[in-house]
Formats: sequence, C-alpha cells, structure tokens
Amino acid sequence: MRSAHTRSAAELPSARGPLSDQVIARLTQGSGGNSLEVADADPFDDDTQLALYVCYELHYRGFVDVDDEHEWDPVLLTFRRELERRFMGAVRDSVGALPTTVSADDEMAELSVEPIDGEGLSYELRDNGTWEQFRDLFALRSLYHHKEADPHAWAIPRLRHQAKAAFVAVEFDEFGAGRGDAVHQELFTDLMGAAGLRTDYLAYLDDAPWWALAPVNLMSCFGLHRSLRGATVGHLAATEITSPPGSQRLLAGLERLDAPESCRHFYREHVEADAVHEQILRTDVVGSLILDEPALERDIVFGMRAFLAMEDAFGEGLRGSWIEGIPAMA
Ligand SMILES: [Fe+2]
Ligand SMILES: [Fe+2]
Repeated sequence: MRSAHTRSAAELPSARGPLSDQVIARLTQGSGGNSLEVADADPFDDDTQLALYVCYELHYRGFVDVDDEHEWDPVLLTFRRELERRFMGAVRDSVGALPTTVSADDEMAELSVEPIDGEGLSYELRDNGTWEQFRDLFALRSLYHHKEADPHAWAIPRLRHQAKAAFVAVEFDEFGAGRGDAVHQELFTDLMGAAGLRTDYLAYLDDAPWWALAPVNLMSCFGLHRSLRGATVGHLAATEITSPPGSQRLLAGLERLDAPESCRHFYREHVEADAVHEQILRTDVVGSLILDEPALERDIVFGMRAFLAMEDAFGEGLRGSWIEGIPAMA
C-alpha cells in the first residue's frame, strides 16, 4: 500500500519573488492585512505562476500546517483574481484572436492529425530521450499528474444530461473506476517510485519553472470558473485527443530504454484508455454540450487552443533547458 505512506498534502514551497512571498507569508503568518499588493510582473514568470499555484492548491489537498480555512480568505481570493486576470490575458494573447466563426468539430479534427515526423517533445523523447530526460519530464509533470483529472471535475455540476453523463464516465476511469490503486494519480506515483523519484504529493513544486506550473494553473483557472466551463470541456477534449499518440511515443521511448514496468504502465494505460475517452469527449461531451449551449462553442475552441499554447510552452521550456545544458528544474 504505497500511497498510504506518501504525504497527502503538499509542503509549502519557497517564495520566488514578491507575489509568491506575500501568499506564503499570509498562509504562515497571517500577514498582509486587508489586501496583498499585486506588483507589475510578467504573468509567465516563476513568481506569478508559483503564487497562482499556491492559491489554487488551497482548493485541492492544501498544505501541511496551513489552516484549511485559508481556502476562502477573501484577501487571497481578491489577490488570486487579479493574478488570474493577468494570466488569462497572457494566455489569450498566446492563443491569438479566434476567427469570427469557429467549429469545435474542425478543431478536434485538426488535433487528431499527427505528423509522422513531428518535432514536439514526445517525438524527441521517443527517438533520442535519455533516462535522465525522462526523469526530468516525470518530476515536472507530477505537478499535474498528482492531481490528474481533479481540475476538470469542477465542471461536473455545471453540465447536464448527456454531456454530464459522458463527462463523468471519462472522469470515472481517470479516478480508477472504483479501484484506489488504479486512480491515474496513483499510477503516476507508482511511476515516480519506479523511476527513483520522490513520491510525496507535489514533492517537486519547489523545482518547477513557470512553464511547468502554467499548464496546471490553466486547468485550475478554467475549472474553478463556471464562466469558463466551455473552456474546461475544450481543455479536457484536447487533452484526451492528443494523449493516445503522445503517450504512445513516450511508451516507445521508455521501451527503447528498457524502463521499469510501472513507468511504461502509466503511458500504456493512457494509450488504451484515452483512445476511448477521445471518442466519448468528441460526440457525447462536446457535441452534446454545443447542442445544449451553442454559445459555448467559442469557449470550447479557446480551451483547446489554450491547452496547446501551454503545452507548447512546457515542451519549449524543457527542451530549451536540455539544449542549453542547464538543469530543467529550478
Ligand atoms: Fe489519465
Ligand atoms: Fe483519459
């Protein structure tokens, strides 16, 4: 029973600038009075993304020795709102203007096109990835996989009828289909252990650069805002559509390296399960939601493109650090 021994809440990270410093000081010392100061900062930097990540974590498993009541601290919520406004502005800039008419169907068809000789992170890892590079990937992806499928779950009460039923069917699988040891979050913990990495919840939070935090903050922001429910659904659809081929490439790289079975198992599971999830998302979730709320189609497409923008940032960040020869982790 490995998971019974791993810490269930996260350790507070060290601050990386004035924004994260204020959040952490508020959580540990109650400082900041009636407001925290939102200094001008690049939304795509370590300090902003860490501050956001810490604010969001209060809605997940929280932090060791931090009062759970901080989740609804109005000062932190106001501060987070301002950080979100800047973050979403930067994400929308990265995505660019959507065309006047958008089609979620066309978007999903495009997401399904997989070039044989593509150039992304998973192609690189399949063909040339070293075991050390895979371990970098695992450690930095743990910021998401330790809470895999949790951010999307917030959309459930915001959906109805067929879209809700199908969405929950996918989430049910992500959460182990009734088996604790099959929860994808737990499969990833097994992977971390097999790779000789720390298995505690969010153990690598201190090591994650902004580009490893931003993809998770994007999902948290989408999930926590009812107004962004279309984007949440689009984000999950894009995740599931791109997962089987991406996971297949990572699996091929791990097989080439003769990696431990638990590491292969996580990706093999995603090759198989996500091929089914993809079909459910396309027709029963996205299709039904658009029939139900046609006005959400733009946000669904935005969610898909935002997913790609943040995944690109992650891939560029990680590959860039390898090319530069500097450690991927902070
Ligand atoms: Fe999964
Ligand atoms: Fe899935």
